[in-house]
Amino acid sequence: MLPTSNVTGATSGPTDPSSELTRRGFLALGGAATVGATVAACTSRAPRSTAKPVGPHSAAVAAAERDREVPGAGRTAVQLTAGPADVDLGGPQVSTWTYGSLPGREIRVRRGARLQVDLVNQLPQPTTVHWHGLAIRNDMDGVPDLTQSAVAAGARFRYDFTVPESGTFWFHPHVGTQLDRGLYAPLIVEDPSDGADYDEELVVILDDWLDGTGRTPDTVLATLRRSGMESMGGASGSAGSMPSMSSSGMQMPQSRLLGGDAGDVTYPYFLANGRVAAAPHVVTSKPGRRFRLRLINAGGDTAFRVGIPGQKLRVTHTDGFPIQPVTADAVLLGMGERIDATIELPDTSVALLAVAEGKSGHAQVGFRVGTAPLSNPAGLVATFLKRSVLMSTDTRAAEQVRLSNRTPEKTHTLELAGPIGTYRWTINGKTYDPTRGLPVRQGQAARLRFVNRTSMFHPMHLHGHTFQVRGANGGGPRKDTALVLPNRTVEVDFVADNPGQWLTHCHNVYHGEAGMMTTVSYVH
Ligand code: C2O
Ligand code: CU
Repeated sequence: MLPTSNVTGATSGPTDPSSELTRRGFLALGGAATVGATVAACTSRAPRSTAKPVGPHSAAVAAAERDREVPGAGRTAVQLTAGPADVDLGGPQVSTWTYGSLPGREIRVRRGARLQVDLVNQLPQPTTVHWHGLAIRNDMDGVPDLTQSAVAAGARFRYDFTVPESGTFWFHPHVGTQLDRGLYAPLIVEDPSDGADYDEELVVILDDWLDGTGRTPDTVLATLRRSGMESMGGASGSAGSMPSMSSSGMQMPQSRLLGGDAGDVTYPYFLANGRVAAAPHVVTSKPGRRFRLRLINAGGDTAFRVGIPGQKLRVTHTDGFPIQPVTADAVLLGMGERIDATIELPDTSVALLAVAEGKSGHAQVGFRVGTAPLSNPAGLVATFLKRSVLMSTDTRAAEQVRLSNRTPEKTHTLELAGPIGTYRWTINGKTYDPTRGLPVRQGQAARLRFVNRTSMFHPMHLHGHTFQVRGANGGGPRKDTALVLPNRTVEVDFVADNPGQWLTHCHNVYHGEAGMMTTVSYVH
């Protein structure tokens, strides 16, 4: 049971089963009753403020949407059915939940277009869709109870919003551990004024897979809550990894690159575009062809180290936004992160490797060039892991998307801790409670300071905004998900220009479900 909020007159005692309703009651309360709690929660003795939260259905949300609309930009209508499916991963057969295929079919729209997605829920549970990375209208953000009621089993819901930015995005449910099943797909937003300096595009969506292999994400979370740790099968095979013991005496995968624990969960398979490495997605092409790779990490608990052994990546975008391009041997993607990079194919077949960082296993995409056979990349993993790795937080935003260096008018510190007791992960000592948000006001320059007091990395994600990571000399990349390594602090700046109630959370789905979520709460 989560701690009850201090909402006056709306709260029941912590042992009352209806306190669950209170925690989920933001929409039901219409916001107004929770206001005092939202603001006063910052310091328990602070005087009750009269600020009111800007709810998902408020006039401010509608006004912000009107500002985004591009007349004549057109409308894209999509049918999206979530339901049970039997899937062939390239050998292993699993029963899981998908959006009709694995990965789900890509949605591709133009910047400024209006996107209408008719979700049909054929799952045995309620679900929602969250449009990861897009700063859209708050009532379409897909967070159950905070921005909409979850869509019941058998019901439908129309998502309808203006797409504000171009880039590489994706979508997934925001209910329970559903993200760690097969419910994910790319959302690519094209900008007609983007000059294309490549011949072809390839979207590569990475995933760690266990659903339907005798476990489900729900049984995994239950095991974590019982033992504080999933059972680890064997030592990790990655260079630079050295197993350590968890408090429960079990082995945790380690990564030097991640500065500590590499994950809480063992996965039997790692997938690129829904396929295991032994039966990969293969692209047939020609020497010298230039590809724009759009890499997406849809994993639940795994960071991936990605690159082509012997080839260079020209990294151009982080989380959809352009950076000052850099050349790299390999890049690291935490859960929820995206990287765009261009490659030029050599005159022989190569493989794009995605090695599960600190864990045992990898996925791949094959590029068959000419008549050269695809080599077996397994033998290349050890050398690949010795190459240098670009961390996206070390890149710099392209000039045209840099946020101005405004001094923040509001700074919130988020102390990340866990796991505590029965696998609780907290922010500022609390598990998720939407009535205790971090207040901001529309128009403010705001800063979030993520302070990691744990021995594991956390990809911290903010809904509804793209922030600028504060790198050295104030020059970080624009992102919506930033890796925060153990014992480090990452500061991100954003302009509070999209009113509503916005989740900020760890994109490790087990950490998020175990409490590591809070809200950035616009008040007025
Ligand atoms: Cu992809 Cu709340 O996240
Ligand atoms: Cu985390």
